[in-house]
Amino acid sequence: MVLAMAKAKEESTRISSVMNEHRMFPPPKTFARSSHVGSKTALKNLIDAASADIVGFWEEQAKDIVWFAPWKKPFVWKHPLAQWFVGGTTNASMNCLDRHLGTWRRTKAAIIWEGEPGDTRTLTYQQLHSEVCKAANALLGLGVKKGDVVAIYMGMVPEAVVAMLACARIGATHNVVFGGFSSEALRERINDSHAVLLITQDAAWRRGELVHLKAAADVSLKACKSVKHVVVLQRTSERTSMKAGRDHWWHEVLAGASRVNEPAKLPSEHPLFILYTSGSTGKPKGILHTTGGYLTQVAYTTKMVFDLRDDDVYFCTADIGWVTGHSYIVYGPLMNGATIMMYEGAPNWPEPDRFWDIIERNAVSIFYTAPTAIRAFMKWGESWPRKHDLSSLRLLGTVGEPINPEAWMWYHSVIGGERCPIVDTWWQTETGAIMISPLPGATVTKPGTATKPLPGILVDVVQKDGTSCKANEGGLLVVKHPWPSMLRTIYGNDERYREAYWSEFPKTRSHPGWYFTGDGARRDKDGYIWIIGRVDDVVNVSGHRLGTAEIESALVSHKHVAEAAVVARPDEVKGNALVAFVSLKSSAKGVNLDKLREELRNHVADEIGHIAKPDEVRFADALPKTRSGKIMRRLLREIVVGGSVNGDVSTLEDAGVLERLRLNDDE
Ligand code: WTA
Repeated sequence: MVLAMAKAKEESTRISSVMNEHRMFPPPKTFARSSHVGSKTALKNLIDAASADIVGFWEEQAKDIVWFAPWKKPFVWKHPLAQWFVGGTTNASMNCLDRHLGTWRRTKAAIIWEGEPGDTRTLTYQQLHSEVCKAANALLGLGVKKGDVVAIYMGMVPEAVVAMLACARIGATHNVVFGGFSSEALRERINDSHAVLLITQDAAWRRGELVHLKAAADVSLKACKSVKHVVVLQRTSERTSMKAGRDHWWHEVLAGASRVNEPAKLPSEHPLFILYTSGSTGKPKGILHTTGGYLTQVAYTTKMVFDLRDDDVYFCTADIGWVTGHSYIVYGPLMNGATIMMYEGAPNWPEPDRFWDIIERNAVSIFYTAPTAIRAFMKWGESWPRKHDLSSLRLLGTVGEPINPEAWMWYHSVIGGERCPIVDTWWQTETGAIMISPLPGATVTKPGTATKPLPGILVDVVQKDGTSCKANEGGLLVVKHPWPSMLRTIYGNDERYREAYWSEFPKTRSHPGWYFTGDGARRDKDGYIWIIGRVDDVVNVSGHRLGTAEIESALVSHKHVAEAAVVARPDEVKGNALVAFVSLKSSAKGVNLDKLREELRNHVADEIGHIAKPDEVRFADALPKTRSGKIMRRLLREIVVGGSVNGDVSTLEDAGVLERLRLNDDE
């Protein structure tokens, strides 16, 4: 933790330019007038009332989702294990679909989908319901039972949503693995979750090329004993090898399936999904979310933060392989009966104006993306959005990492035409739903901050000893009261769950125990929270969380690598770029280092996926270590950021190492 604090301190000095940010943007009057919460006073009253009775507040919100049977106890807390709406039974698929079928929304577009090559499809709520029921029956037919885990490895196609909802419908727990991950990463996630069935597709379109998902899955499956069946969607005309008895075409198993399927009546705490995310140790963490509490907070935040109305066309550019896709493409918008714009491919295909083109053609009104994408748009130039009529937009959102004020201003003026409020939403895979965010009709925004916690959410910025930080003092971001959509555990590993989130501020006789987010933050004099960044060994690259330990273990699995340490250096577009320091085994003697560098980068891409590929590989004869043998990444970070080391080196075992690393750097 000393190291982490040192980093927090180090980082908090970096934020000083942001500290000078004084621009303020009140909600436009016309927007406020028609929004769910339309004034500062209304929001303050809401927050005060919620804070006085947090559980009661969430109970009220839980009444907005549909239950088969009401709960008996709203909240049961056995630190750090939470249960919400105990005794209640419900179903996520029923909340997303069936509830709308008795209303006019039955014929409303649920999904407007566009493939990268330009093909389009629209599914109404009725049609989506039919597909989900058929898929649910198909899964049952293949022997999937309530409580089984089903892995989903797909691109951005409507069937990915159908697959998730079909699992939810029968009480199977879905484990969506991002389609950009490698077969190694897929294998690990299937095996850790003991998935019994895999849903994938032949290939997906990305930047004009095919990503061969089924072929990658075949490699993983060689070492996945638990998977009995594979269902394969045919998205392209690629030839795909199918293993008799194990592999089934999606269209074939659905063709024979009934359109009638009663949603399973599931306890509120029934596991809805597992989603793997990076932690500070090598192995990804299977974040487990359950049903009733998750649905409650996701439905509420979608409605309030995006100020959703029935005539909106809502476009979230995340991939469903990340939590943003789960909560704010699938569950939140569908529970609210929204029309979702879903796009398969890359933002710069065939030209860098694809998103703006989609917005114009489909009259998108709400657009939710990530700072890394915004910085890429800035780099590509204003002329691309300027070519399009973006006047249908009324609200913009961002998530995934701190947004730098210049990017915020660009988003505000070039995309939002200075008329759209921006909701900068802070949350995590673990929190399940948005925690800190403006409400667009009520909050005065400032570029670069997610502003304040939502009603019913109790967060604080504290010192290591637990005292609240003073205004503008850097500290650790904690959540002080459990919330409905919180993770319930790390799948199969309660101990790691306790250690990762609840050990920094543990429960004692005199302390209730708080959830530590892993983020450093500061609160300004108006109570606005500014995220400084991670204080553990997790880096945020292009809005994706990567554990440096995971990348290091991928590097070390290469035959020539003795040791590796990965650190981040700031990057204009990606937020962070990855620099890998590698020391080689003697077997590497005489090997061409330039070639090896490329080989190692590709090796990481094979082991984890392209997103984790180091931008730079530097060879070193040794890495700086403490006397106890811990690699001092802090020093490496100083080298990549500033070129030299100014920090405390008193715990360094061999000071000569640094000198040699620096010399390498000058080469
Ligand atoms: C960072 C994504 C600043 C933060 C939903 C967090 C943010 C991690 C913001 C979670 C934001 C996310 N401002 N930082 N608006 N949103 N982060 O699990 O460090 O992929 O802990 O969830 O991203 O990343 P994850």
